[in-house]
Amino acid sequence: MSFTLWFTGLSGSGKTTLSRGVYLELKRRGIKAELLDGDIIRTNFSQELGFTKRDRDINVRRIGFVSYLLSKNDIVSVVAAIAPYANARRQNRRLIGQYIEVFCNCPLAVAEKRDVKGLYARARAGEIPSFTGISDPYEEPRAPELVVDTDRETVEESLIKIISDLEDRRLVPKRDQCKLCNYTEEDEFRRRQNLAALGFARNIQV
Ligand SMILES: Nc1ncnc2c1ncn2[C@@H]1O[C@H](COP(=O)(O)OP(=O)(O)OP(=O)(O)O)[C@@H](O)[C@H]1O
Ligand SMILES: [Mg+2]
Repeated sequence: MSFTLWFTGLSGSGKTTLSRGVYLELKRRGIKAELLDGDIIRTNFSQELGFTKRDRDINVRRIGFVSYLLSKNDIVSVVAAIAPYANARRQNRRLIGQYIEVFCNCPLAVAEKRDVKGLYARARAGEIPSFTGISDPYEEPRAPELVVDTDRETVEESLIKIISDLEDRRLVPKRDQCKLCNYTEEDEFRRRQNLAALGFARNIQV
């Protein structure tokens, strides 16, 4: 039995950035892990779903179920998905058991100022209905295992905080206890290029 590390938070709060960082570090430590990013899942796995509460809940439950299967088979599932509704998150927690929730805590104003994908501007202009934080709810986690204040911490600081927490929980061995592998961003890049060539994941970040 492994565990699931779920990054939840507003758009632009840092879920993709931090999940990728943690995932790569786990791979370097020789730990079997998979990264499930909400954007990529929506493109390849949940294409038919929209952004109603019902569809969002289905999407989050699907990701939860895949995470359950992976974790049950000793693979760490690292998830980056807004998961705005507390109830859907709670159901996943129950299903998965070893479920570590990381709340990417970032004020809306900061996430909006970052506007990494230009979506906030479009949401404010009324071009995107049901946009989390603007015209759709985000229910903040009440008791997440970990909170990263991404408006006040650097990416590096947040990453160290998360990895140290996983070490303290004995879920991840410390670096000096691992046979380190040379797993790099380029390895990921190549894998993603192969997928893209096969017609998958057109919005994959490479
Ligand atoms: N401590 C931090 N942790 C994570 N990201 C940070 C931090 N400090 C600054 N940032 C910046 O904030 C931005 C976060 O964008 P990112 O794409 O990771 O958000 P997201 O939560 O995945 O959004 P979305 O839900 O739209 O996919 C990046 O540009 C990142 O460099
Ligand atoms: Mg993201």
